[in-house]
Amino acid sequence: MEKNNYIIYAHRGALAYAPENTKIAFEKALELNANGIELDLQKTKDGKLVIFHDDIIDNKSNGKGKISDYTYQELLNFDFGSWFDSKYKNEKILLFEDFAKEFLDKDLTFAIELKVLGIEENTLDIINKYKTHDNIYITSFLYEAIENTRELNKNIKLSWLVSKINKENVNKLLKIKGQQICPKAELVSKEDIDLANKNGLGVRLWGIYNEEIMKRVYKFNIEGMTVNFPDKLYELIKKEKM
Ligand code: G3P
Ligand code: CA
Repeated sequence: MEKNNYIIYAHRGALAYAPENTKIAFEKALELNANGIELDLQKTKDGKLVIFHDDIIDNKSNGKGKISDYTYQELLNFDFGSWFDSKYKNEKILLFEDFAKEFLDKDLTFAIELKVLGIEENTLDIINKYKTHDNIYITSFLYEAIENTRELNKNIKLSWLVSKINKENVNKLLKIKGQQICPKAELVSKEDIDLANKNGLGVRLWGIYNEEIMKRVYKFNIEGMTVNFPDKLYELIKKEKM
């Protein structure tokens, strides 16, 4: 793989350095040389798309309860930064539309993860309103979410999050004309990646929790990986090129 095209996806923004999935985490990612952004989408009680990973807000804010039980306006009352560091006290939950307005026209690759079913159409509408290029993957662990996305849009890139690559997963993804398969880094092998590549699929890895895993999987023929520390992957790429 030509490493010039290697995508450093900042996982939920630069989550090792800032409260995940917030605006500051995405800005930090760009500062640290990420050329891709990964984020998670959830739906509020009033049907708005917000960028958030968990089903409940207890661990990543000063509030409690299910994200889907709050309206967007109600969520704005909570602090989504202090749990990470008091210096991020005023960080608010981020509306996907506000993210799209500010980031989607940038020269970056995006992995937009659908955490729940039923948000496919709204996600595509927002993307279509703000995108200026096609380096955007709709991604999910939920096969049905990407299957529904394909029914709504014939051209958008799809990437499927799986534990392991196998023949069955590859065929399921090819059936809906997906582009990329995303196995867990710790479980992947060169043979699995060859299988995906042979069938015309690109590979993005997830679950790179430390530098040791990052270094082990770096040499594989992949399109990129989702990392918590984009700066470290950037340094590794630079070093390997020298
Ligand atoms: O890149 C995919 C990765 O983000 C999947 O894990 O738990 O962060 O959604 P999670
Ligand atoms: Ca994710």
